[in-house]
Amino acid sequence: MTIKHLLVAFACASLASVSGAAGKPAGNAAAGQQKSAACGGCHGVDGNNAPEMFAAVKAPKLAGQVPEYIVKSLHDFKGGKRNNEVMSPQAQAVGEPDMADIAAWFGSQKVQPNPSQNKELMAQGERIFFKGKGRPDVIAACIGCHGPQGVGNRDWAKVMSKVPAVLAPAIGGQHAGYIADQLKAYKSGKRATDPAKVMRDIAGRMDEKDILAVAEYISTLGR
Ligand code: HEC
Ligand code: HEC
Repeated sequence: MTIKHLLVAFACASLASVSGAAGKPAGNAAAGQQKSAACGGCHGVDGNNAPEMFAAVKAPKLAGQVPEYIVKSLHDFKGGKRNNEVMSPQAQAVGEPDMADIAAWFGSQKVQPNPSQNKELMAQGERIFFKGKGRPDVIAACIGCHGPQGVGNRDWAKVMSKVPAVLAPAIGGQHAGYIADQLKAYKSGKRATDPAKVMRDIAGRMDEKDILAVAEYISTLGR
């Protein structure tokens, strides 16, 4: 499959799902802005925490994240399916009715990508993002599920019942350190929140250099 085919497939899947079942009622972004005051200290008030803040607390950017993925992640932390000593207690404090509003707020913000100076890592990471590595598909191309520029699958909730493997979060512009940490967590099995083991399988076949390269490239993508 060429990149063009993948892009067409991604666009078609998105269009098909738009015309499908009606989505869940969306949260209220303005209400979510008020309710997210406690999150800003680590994630940034608009979901774009600066690199220095990331270095201190290791919290990901939430700006432009797929709202359904934010809600899913809060459930994963709250229910103990995903564990992090800093974030797990934070999730306990978020009430069910507030989750959709907070997710709508961060989801409506625009992510600010990070710059990169490392040309060699960038080139290797770009290849993995668009083409994967090995034949046939030892490491699947990230774009196939995470979409052009790593925007994530915004129609997640609608296609969820059909194809769990394409229900992918936004990753473009995310801190490279966070992407690498999560790939390592999937690889070791510490993080097991992925439907059908999709990310555990892919990350499990990546070596240290693949992980650092693709994380570096993805962190520079604007979406
Ligand atoms: C004290 C710092 C801190 C605060 C405050 C905080 N978080 Fe987090 N959050 C983190 C860290 C650290 C992680 C990364 C956890 C990991 O590596 O698994 C995280 C991860 C997340 C994720 C997962 C994102 C992804 O891409 O998988 C979501 C969603 C999230 N936080 C939402 C919130 C919300 C909503 C609030 C406010 C109610 C909040 N956080 C408050 C530190 C914080
Ligand atoms: C077959 C579909 C598919 C492919 C291909 C894929 N992913 Fe994913 N990815 C997912 C899904 C689904 C999730 C959400 C899993 C979960 O909820 O834990 C995810 C989650 C992630 C996360 C966690 C994001 C966060 O905010 O916590 C990262 C990082 C990631 N993928 C990176 C990659 C990279 C890098 C590649 C290419 C080497 C890739 N993915 C290829 C489907 C895919």
